[in-house]
Amino acid sequence: MNKNLDFYKWFNDISSKLGSREISFKKIFKYLDSQPNPIIIVETGCLRNKNNYLDGQSTLLFDKYTLSRGEKSKVYTVDINPNSTKVCKEVVSENVAITTDDSVRYLNKMSNDFLKNKVQVSMFYLDSFDVDWRYPYPSAAHHLKELTAINRILHKDSLVVVDDSPATGNLTQNDGNANEPWKVLAEPSPSPTIGGKGFLVHEYAAHVGAKLLFSHYQAGWCQFNK
Ligand SMILES: C[S@@+](CC[C@H](N)C(=O)[O-])C[C@H]1O[C@@H](n2cnc3c(N)ncnc32)[C@H](O)[C@@H]1O
Repeated sequence: MNKNLDFYKWFNDISSKLGSREISFKKIFKYLDSQPNPIIIVETGCLRNKNNYLDGQSTLLFDKYTLSRGEKSKVYTVDINPNSTKVCKEVVSENVAITTDDSVRYLNKMSNDFLKNKVQVSMFYLDSFDVDWRYPYPSAAHHLKELTAINRILHKDSLVVVDDSPATGNLTQNDGNANEPWKVLAEPSPSPTIGGKGFLVHEYAAHVGAKLLFSHYQAGWCQFNK
């Protein structure tokens, strides 16, 4: 049987457990399906709790996907917490390279190595440094630093996804429609934008004309470097 079909059989069984991330993980895999082998995925912030799909279980999803693509497809993941990398090692296959380190330092070293060895990354999945929803700056700055560390190796089709980055906007009460109690305010109020972990990555993306591929609970961009 086609291994890619095996992946979707497994994924379709578990996808509803992903909650708000279900739709964007589907878009991620659809995008990766359109990319050539080998599929190389680099992740920051690995799976840290077994079977907790509400955290994402991203490393497991990416492991299963890259195994289904074969031909040297591979996942690289980094986490600063040795407990997280220990749990992750117990869940995923040996096709995932797991490192305990600070993500920005790791990505900088990896960029040197990948440039030298001409490794093309299909997707970066940035999900380290938990976000404080009332004060997202430290987390958003950390993810912007991660983007800085990989900027040299982003090619036109590299997908960059940041978790925990829902759109945020200025709303007004929608009187008279109980089913839709809120509506987006028009000018002079600023339009909705990306919030959370990815809000500074999105500002950078807008400056350089990168393409926003999707905006759900997770946000994804490509074409940072055209
Ligand atoms: C939200 S969890 C990752 C969840 C995982 N992606 C999943 O889907 O199950 C965030 C992880 O980032 C790690 N982390 C925090 N700061 C970090 C840093 N500076 N470098 C690397 N990892 C970091 C934490 O230890 C934690 O395990």
